[in-house]
Amino acid sequence: MTLPDDGATAAARQRMAAGLTADHPSAWAAAFASVPRHPFVPCFYAQDYTGAWEGIASGDPGFLEAVYSDTALTIQLDDQGVPNSSSSQPSTMLTMLDALDVRDGHRVLELGTGTGYNTALLCHRLGDKNVTSVDIDPGLVETATQRLQHAGFNPTIVVGDGAQGYPGNAPYDRIIATVGLHAIPRPLLEQAAPGAVIVAPLGYGILRITMTGRGHATGRFLPTPAYFMARRTSGTAPQFDAAAQQDSTTTSVPPADLLGRLKFAASVALPGYTSCSWRSDQGDLEAVGLWTPDGSTAVVHDSGSVQQIGPQRLWDTIEKLAKEFTDEPARDAFLLTITPTRQIVYYEDTDGPSWPLPAAN
Ligand SMILES: C[S@@+](CC[C@H](N)C(=O)[O-])C[C@H]1O[C@@H](n2cnc3c(N)ncnc32)[C@H](O)[C@@H]1O
Repeated sequence: MTLPDDGATAAARQRMAAGLTADHPSAWAAAFASVPRHPFVPCFYAQDYTGAWEGIASGDPGFLEAVYSDTALTIQLDDQGVPNSSSSQPSTMLTMLDALDVRDGHRVLELGTGTGYNTALLCHRLGDKNVTSVDIDPGLVETATQRLQHAGFNPTIVVGDGAQGYPGNAPYDRIIATVGLHAIPRPLLEQAAPGAVIVAPLGYGILRITMTGRGHATGRFLPTPAYFMARRTSGTAPQFDAAAQQDSTTTSVPPADLLGRLKFAASVALPGYTSCSWRSDQGDLEAVGLWTPDGSTAVVHDSGSVQQIGPQRLWDTIEKLAKEFTDEPARDAFLLTITPTRQIVYYEDTDGPSWPLPAAN
């Protein structure tokens, strides 16, 4: 389905673009003002008060307001009803595009085509021939390609694991991931041109690194909080039942800290972790669970009781972080250095506390 761009949608789009760039001038203002979002998101899912997902399509009340608001919109749910693709929050898209610092003629690789909206913005700024986008989901790629063509854009769109990049159009001057990574995949470093900039979500932050030599890169997290759905890979499900069989220990770190001040630091120390919470009928936090792709699992109750299982003692890492950071640390105090053999995140400088990222394929 293709949707017309009329006076109402043009006005809504220009209001959104003006709002996004009100506080600072951006080279992307013209792209946001020119490229309509609604043809790329003709329907989306919203959660009602019970948590159930409801589809909202063009013509439904509130559709246009939502599409031209600064909101991430879920566009697809998996078999379990969990979102697996979305149109990202426009202000986060702008922050990442600004950080990418593109110049005319730059060749860009995007990981996570999704709706194709961000791809369209890249094409508007750089031209079709300079844009390559990869998504793992063939259905999304097919739909995004059609919508891009209808909007007048013909970039290279590829079905595949973005972690492998796309050597066919390398080298890239800029690489932008719109899907969460646990480390910077080696193929991307190999396909990056000398001096290339890579902007990618990692945990609850966004990294901006610059290639400093073959296989070497360095950079910092942006100050902005952000979370992107994780790159689809195989991982082990949480082992809650097995954890419940383990002896309990006690902790003085409130489980709420994992959901608050330690959230970002935990995502650096335990790349790829996922958390969940259990609450009373009144909404009070009763326990949190966390797990990593290797199946390590911890459950921590508000009483201070902890049960853990798996190759990593996850809550022990959280306790160390709680000692290291009495307040929420600023994201831009964390830097990443990449060499051909290692990727390490440091706090403040390379003499500070450090956390290795997992070997990236
Ligand atoms: C937040 S959405 C991308 C938003 C998109 N840039 C847009 O403007 O609509 C994340 C996308 O990453 C894709 N994805 C997940 N795992 C991937 C992988 N391993 N390689 C490439 N894409 C992946 C998902 O299918 C999803 O469409």
